[in-house]
Amino acid sequence: MAQIIDGKAVSASVKAEVAEETARLRETNGLKVGLAVVIVGNDPASRVYVNNKKKACEAVGFQSYEYALDESTTQEQLLDLVNVLNRDDRVNGILVQLPLPKHIDEKAVINAISPDKDVDAFHPVNVGKIMIGEYSFLPCTPAGVMRLIESTGVDITGKQCVVIGRSNIVGKPQAMLLLQKNGTVTICHSKTKNLKEICLGADILVVAIGRAKFVTGDMIKEGAVVIDVGMDRDENGKLCGDVDFESAEKKAGYITPVPGGVGPMTIAMLMKNTLTAAKQQAGIE
Ligand code: GUN
Repeated sequence: MAQIIDGKAVSASVKAEVAEETARLRETNGLKVGLAVVIVGNDPASRVYVNNKKKACEAVGFQSYEYALDESTTQEQLLDLVNVLNRDDRVNGILVQLPLPKHIDEKAVINAISPDKDVDAFHPVNVGKIMIGEYSFLPCTPAGVMRLIESTGVDITGKQCVVIGRSNIVGKPQAMLLLQKNGTVTICHSKTKNLKEICLGADILVVAIGRAKFVTGDMIKEGAVVIDVGMDRDENGKLCGDVDFESAEKKAGYITPVPGGVGPMTIAMLMKNTLTAAKQQAGIE
């Protein structure tokens, strides 16, 4: 039976570290940290995420600035706001909640955010820095996954690491981070042949394919670390992950639950990136 990786506990410890450093730097350097969160339209899931981000800011001692824009906002208006925030010294990090309404080009918006304030690490400059291992910010979800793997005490060096999913937000950067920790990395996706065999070779398996209960126990190597990035609904409408937890926990050595695994980590890493941004902009470290 697998040991459950407690994402809530690891996330709480990351947030506690950020809160402690924020309080210390306010005392010693007068540093104030601000995060601007921009949401366009009325997507209910986005609204929940944005509220959680604001709450996390309060908890760690940051100021949050919310910009809730109407669905009908034009691309030009949104780009104007991003440019204002780029120049606003109170704002150390800018997060534009995705997805954006269809009439707005997400790429154009991401490209407009100053790379120094891009706490999502979505800007091509920050993506490029991750490729060469010289980054300031790591994308929040893959960085959170790395923290969860670290919490197991399992050393990544030399291990067979399999990532299922190749998105720009999770799969691709996840593979790079595992490679930087000396893992031997295979990236799989919906067109991969022999997926089961490849998974069975994985010491560390990160699943981010967006299909409910896609990975089952018979695809998992005995004792593997299994990280489930999925947020799906099962046939009864109940929240579940990309991994079939019930069968997987019988084979895995360590496994993340959904909810309570990767989810809580994303916001914790966003707080960490925002503090990093504020320190860099103030010339600290
Ligand atoms: N929408 C879902 N996840 C994310 C995220 O990590 N960042 C942003 N900006 N939007 C999202």
